[in-house]
Amino acid sequence: MTSIKDYIEQHKDRFIDELIELLKIPSISADSKYKEDTFKTADAVKESLEKAGADNVELCPTKGYPVVYGEKIIDPNKPTILVYGHYDVQPPDPLNLWDSPPFEPVIKDNKIYARGAADDKGQMYMHVKAFEYMVVSNKLPCNVKFIIEGEEEVGSENLDKFVKENKEKLKADIILISDTSMLSLENPSITTGLKGLSYIEVEVTGPNRDLHSGVYGGAVANPINILTKMIASLTDEDNRITIPGFYDKVLDSSDEERKEMAKTPFDLEHYKSKLGIEEVHGEKGYTTIERTGIRPTLDVNGIWGGYIGEGAKTVLPSKAFAKISMRLVPNQSDHEIRKLFADHFKSIAPKSVKVEVHPHHGGEPYVTPINTKEYKAASKAIERAFGKSPVPVRAGGSIPIVSLFEKELGLKSILLGFGLDTDAIHSPNEHYGIENFLKGIETISYFYETYTEE
Ligand code: BES
Ligand code: MN
Ligand code: MN
Repeated sequence: MTSIKDYIEQHKDRFIDELIELLKIPSISADSKYKEDTFKTADAVKESLEKAGADNVELCPTKGYPVVYGEKIIDPNKPTILVYGHYDVQPPDPLNLWDSPPFEPVIKDNKIYARGAADDKGQMYMHVKAFEYMVVSNKLPCNVKFIIEGEEEVGSENLDKFVKENKEKLKADIILISDTSMLSLENPSITTGLKGLSYIEVEVTGPNRDLHSGVYGGAVANPINILTKMIASLTDEDNRITIPGFYDKVLDSSDEERKEMAKTPFDLEHYKSKLGIEEVHGEKGYTTIERTGIRPTLDVNGIWGGYIGEGAKTVLPSKAFAKISMRLVPNQSDHEIRKLFADHFKSIAPKSVKVEVHPHHGGEPYVTPINTKEYKAASKAIERAFGKSPVPVRAGGSIPIVSLFEKELGLKSILLGFGLDTDAIHSPNEHYGIENFLKGIETISYFYETYTEE
């Protein structure tokens, strides 16, 4: 019987061609111009699951983009793995910074370049191909269900509802997700945590109209000057967040946990050189791995106002805006942090301006325990594929639905991601290593075995 390695060797060109076809469809969930394409992508995912051997494959309609569902139930008494992934992608802007168009995939240096290559079409598709192998080789040892959604990049609001309304359909023993990264192919890792998120937009209004910056400048509050000062005050000289109560609920890691984390193979010089920076930056007293993994953070994602066209215009603008996100760690809650932020931000505004705080999406943090059967199975599967056992690493990114899965379905997720932090997800020139793609397929097929063997 063909081994997974042989199967991959024989079929890899087809796997890559199929993925490339999927990457050509611009399923940008944030932009309604791409509505038709996003629906088309759902169709394509449905078809791929059918071809791979899934039963009862359907497009489950939601208020937004459909959830693609499929399953293979070999024996109701056997365990069930629920695979989650997303077929939507981030907007590709700024387009001029791409070396090749985002939806015309190209292979360069053994990497596929396209929006969604790593996040998450490439990683989601590894599951379809691993499943295909399990089915054609008649090796599937347990039941499998798939839910592939089209709104992860915009907050998964409709999936939220779908999960609450379809608990029976989604009944499973464990959730398996490939939508995160690992340290490197040489140093494989398993993601053991995701951050929560509070995303907020602020609007600062000064005078009731734009003013001449000479006639009024220095006498009337400039909302951009004020906003930037307010933002600057949100962190102190140690780069700690100054919002009162912000750290109150943070579950501090023990010295022992921090000692373990310090063993993570991490090359700071390589990290800096890849980013073109001389020095890293962050909360005093913590390492880079800790800052991204276990510490909450605050970042301005966008800021605008006033004149940004060509040339110079001497204007004192009426309004200034910013989009601000906070990444949360265990025990912090989106709901509470959002309120702390809003109260504080309003309280530090001078009387010369009005401040409005508008909510965007958010989500709760998540941690995977590492002493479980499924974690050990994932660890074994990686060891078999990579020849090295993985280390646990907490991610800085967020997948809000994961904590909801736990809350609503009572299920833990295994975050078996194969991307690299350097894949440029959400950035121009996103790419996914073909080796990562193929190793991922191999590892997933091993997971089916390691998870079900006693
Ligand atoms: N796949 C990412 C999350 C991720 C990336 C986790 C790398 C760990 C490592 C996901 O698609 C994503 O981008 N999530 C958003 C949140 C969402 C609500 C828009 C994020 O983290 O910004
Ligand atoms: Mn993703
Ligand atoms: Mn993403």
